[in-house]
Amino acid sequence: IVAALGKRAVVLVGMMGAGKSTIGRRMAARLRLPFLDADHEIETAAGMSIPDIFEVHGEPHFRDGEARVIARLLESGPILLATGGGAYVRDETRQRIRDKAISLWLKADADVILRRVKKRDNRPLLKTPDPAGTIARLIEARHPFYEQTDITLDSRDVPHEKIVDEAIVAL
Ligand code: S3P
Repeated sequence: IVAALGKRAVVLVGMMGAGKSTIGRRMAARLRLPFLDADHEIETAAGMSIPDIFEVHGEPHFRDGEARVIARLLESGPILLATGGGAYVRDETRQRIRDKAISLWLKADADVILRRVKKRDNRPLLKTPDPAGTIARLIEARHPFYEQTDITLDSRDVPHEKIVDEAIVAL
């Protein structure tokens, strides 16, 4: 598979809590590709956490940085890249991913997402009085973009390795 990918990266997209980092890490190990997490790279580049970037500089600034970091990572050859939930919505980023990578959407239901994100308090977009409503609105706005990926994978509550197997078959 890695040979077939050539210079292309594999990029995971999807909502927060869909399992992009967990599944991505395991997929990368199986495919023997370096795993990179865009959120983590943004934090390293900025020298601050994502909640702090949102708070200090605001979301538009975060989105610009996110697009730059992803553009840079896509130049690094075959890697497995997990992107933050909002990245693929940006036209320029979606186009770059289309040119340089095979894209996989990890699709998860709202209730699964809500349950998973509740475990960690690190999503600035969900610091609202109504996280469930916010998730529903984000899903509605983002699904038309996520549907444009090459491969869709159902992120259910099954063992991670099963989802990884499905991903590898689909690739
Ligand atoms: C965001 C998702 C987060 C992070 C930021 C914004 C989003 O990444 O990039 O909090 O817009 O959905 P994960 O999808 O890895 O949680």
